[in-house]
Amino acid sequence: MSRRAVIVGTGAALPPRRITNAELAERVDTSHEWIVERTGIEARHIAGDGETTATLATEAARKALDAAGIPASTIGLIVLATATPDQTFPASATRVQTALGINDCIAFDVQAVCTGFLYALSIADNMIKGGMADRALVIGSETFSRILDWEDRATCVLFGDGAGAIVLEARETEDEGILATRLHADGRHNDLLYVDGGVSTTGTVGKLRMRGKEVFRHAVVNLAAVLNEVLEAAGHRPEEVDWVVPHQANKRILDATAKKLGLDPSRVVVTVDQHANTSAASVPLALDVAVRDGRIGKGNLVVLEAMGGGFTWGAAVVRF
Ligand code: UT7
Repeated sequence: MSRRAVIVGTGAALPPRRITNAELAERVDTSHEWIVERTGIEARHIAGDGETTATLATEAARKALDAAGIPASTIGLIVLATATPDQTFPASATRVQTALGINDCIAFDVQAVCTGFLYALSIADNMIKGGMADRALVIGSETFSRILDWEDRATCVLFGDGAGAIVLEARETEDEGILATRLHADGRHNDLLYVDGGVSTTGTVGKLRMRGKEVFRHAVVNLAAVLNEVLEAAGHRPEEVDWVVPHQANKRILDATAKKLGLDPSRVVVTVDQHANTSAASVPLALDVAVRDGRIGKGNLVVLEAMGGGFTWGAAVVRF
């Protein structure tokens, strides 16, 4: 028996405004057919006035707490993964904390772009194992619509807004909860996916820029490598995995990664068709969908993985 962080609740939030490919085709030179064929995306949700990274995160966190049956007041740690915070500071995690009525807990943001949730999960897992907290909220929340260049058809069709959250609880257990996490970064690839603004450079927020083909190539290689690495660390083989919950960037990346590992594609949770790429929110959003529709349940061995700007990439093995 050892002290582990166990996922006891999940939640998600999507802005009500849903934009289809056909609607985008009225704004830029694209088509529903091109977007579906190259990415698998059919629609995305976009935040409206008053909807922010923190408000979406709060809604997802509330649902995760409800699902766990845990009062917010017992949360000792909030880690919020985002590249699109409400303000440069304070951390959006502290806004979520206040909205949930928690007056004293550890609360901070983590920025690893699309891998942010995996980074946040790994940090929270280690803080729980180290005794810093008994219950934690780990949240991925983004409003990428605010940093998209809506004139650039190569990027604006790919992203959406949303949030996902989980509640972690410390338990003495044999084979339950987060079994292993692995994280990586390689800053040599900063210029393949970045935002062309920033506080200490241009003093502007900037817009997202991406060389999609190069990112795609690195994604498949890095994700397959980190999946093998994390499964080995957890002492499991790919064929033992019940569900893979990947970062949702492109259906073709999900298929190629599953093929490289010899994983059954029907065991891969896919939400990119309805959510598009929601960066740090995509893994917890997809996890919540698969938990709520009953696919992921007690005893399942689940692998989470993501890759994004930096590059950063990472994976986790979780027993439900
Ligand atoms: O979350 C972080 C990780 N991010 C990713 O994983 C994204 C990885 N990359 C991708 O998903 C893909 O590379 C994209 C979906 C971004 C692009 O797909 P692709 O098959 O690599 O297309 P491409 O960039 O090579 O573009 C092919 C053609 C180009 O035209 P030409 O030069 O062949 O005439 C583009 O200009 O498609 C054109 N194109 C479009 N056409 C219609 C690019 N965007 C669009 C568009 N609609 N929206």
